[in-house]
Amino acid sequence: MELDTYIRALPKAELHLHIEGTLEPELMFRLAARNQVALPWASVEQTRAAYDFTDLQSFLDLYYAGAAALIHEQDFHELAMAYFARAHADGVVHAELFFDPQTHTSRGVAFDTVLSGLERACAEAHARYGISSRLILCFLRHLSAEDSYAMLEQALPHLARFHGVGLDSSEKGHPPSKFARLFARCRELGLHIVAHAGEEGPPAYIVEALDILKVERIDHGVRAAEDPALMQRLAREQVPLTVCPLSNIRLCVFPTLAQHNLRALLDAGLKVTINSDDPAYFGGYVAKNYLDTALALSLTRAELKRIARNSLDAAFVDEATRAPWLTRLAAVPD
Ligand code: HPA
Ligand code: ZN
Repeated sequence: MELDTYIRALPKAELHLHIEGTLEPELMFRLAARNQVALPWASVEQTRAAYDFTDLQSFLDLYYAGAAALIHEQDFHELAMAYFARAHADGVVHAELFFDPQTHTSRGVAFDTVLSGLERACAEAHARYGISSRLILCFLRHLSAEDSYAMLEQALPHLARFHGVGLDSSEKGHPPSKFARLFARCRELGLHIVAHAGEEGPPAYIVEALDILKVERIDHGVRAAEDPALMQRLAREQVPLTVCPLSNIRLCVFPTLAQHNLRALLDAGLKVTINSDDPAYFGGYVAKNYLDTALALSLTRAELKRIARNSLDAAFVDEATRAPWLTRLAAVPD
């Protein structure tokens, strides 16, 4: 079996995926025309050509500009359905979608509009593809803690409609501790907790995410490798890391995929998963992330299977939901 076919045959969960980051330029232009929104680019080609990032911020500037095309409930529905079709083709059985409501409410798009469109897509994806999903509300860390509180207030009447909260956007200068009180409140509300940490920020941000926010997974976390004590802790506690290799290359966290530290993390016994982050911007959905990483780092089929297993283990689902996935995975040969 070809490696690409093998990877697609592995039942896997995608745990680090910004739904706004799945907005392909073609859909962006279609929605912008339909909604009479001006984009900063003249064409689909010019848009793709602009995706030449130097760091996280240079990406975020374009990512927020593109998200302006999303206005109506059906826009969010179409966006997520396009993602689910690709995820299904890649062998994803479960997806936990990040969404950034502040990006939309700040433009006058109601929280309920965003959530309704995504929710309808999740139900449709389950019916059409058998993919289960969760929604994780991400707070934008470059905005104030007060802003994030106001967002949580707006979300409170809809608490049953999302499963967890996360922390994303510009990392440097915005440590997890800035949101200590917000996340304490989210924990009291019974929400699952994750946070981006150690993508561009130092290992100390990962420690803060664990000790102050009390996250259940670390999004990215690759800079943990700079702190041996933290590496030992992550291995001992089996904290899942949602690593996004193609994202890390496109945002210049590592110069090339061959120099990515995913193998080192894996060899140190960390619970590593592979995810696509913002696939419309970074040149590949989850199966391509597995494949390119496998080729660059000589990952064996057994290692790829272990990574898929980690993703199923780290999903926010009950054991009855997880069990059939594990059975299916076990049936795939090494
Ligand atoms: N890091 C931080 N914020 C983000 C990302 C990311 O990789 N993608 C979308 N928002
Ligand atoms: Zn991310």
